[in-house]
Amino acid sequence: MTTLPPAGPTEEEQAVLRDRISADSLTTRRDYLRIVATVSGGLVVGSTVVSAGVLHRHGDGSAPPLKVADQLGSGEAVTFNYPGENDRAMAIKLADGSVVGYSTVCTHLACGVLWRKGRGEEGELYCPCHEGVFSARTGEVTAGPPPRPLPKVIMVEDAAGAVWAIGTARSGEGVEAGLCRGLRDRDPALAEAAGCPKDGS
Ligand code: FES
Repeated sequence: MTTLPPAGPTEEEQAVLRDRISADSLTTRRDYLRIVATVSGGLVVGSTVVSAGVLHRHGDGSAPPLKVADQLGSGEAVTFNYPGENDRAMAIKLADGSVVGYSTVCTHLACGVLWRKGRGEEGELYCPCHEGVFSARTGEVTAGPPPRPLPKVIMVEDAAGAVWAIGTARSGEGVEAGLCRGLRDRDPALAEAAGCPKDGS
């Protein structure tokens, strides 16, 4: 009996595969645009529906997306490390359902910032070292000596309610600028397709 060598993909099969890859690429680009548009548009992040598969592939380029909680209740906070394993961060679900994230390294002298749920209308981020206070909604300094807002961690909630960190923005940098900066580092072509400016502005 003659054993035939394993057959490689026919030309037709290769064409189908190419189509599939290119369709996937289009889909993920559209999804990426949707993430950027939704997050940067200031919509309630809690309503953002993003598939975990897309998150796994895209993040912001500076670090892979990280699931930080399976669920987060209103007024609850969760701490985690992102984008690096020593970068302390916190995600908070505000009363209106939006999820915000920040570095918890105080911009004054690097003490750890804490969540104070019961303060003010939406709670606040508090640094016990010198009474620094930051807005829970924006990360801006509202009291004390910190010279700059807290750097943001860009958060999204997926369809199942899990909370993900997908990127970072530097202190005072907008969410879209942060996402684009990370994406440009990893995949300039995709950054261009997502409408990110080339010069980093
Ligand atoms: S280290 Fe946070 S207020 Fe000084």
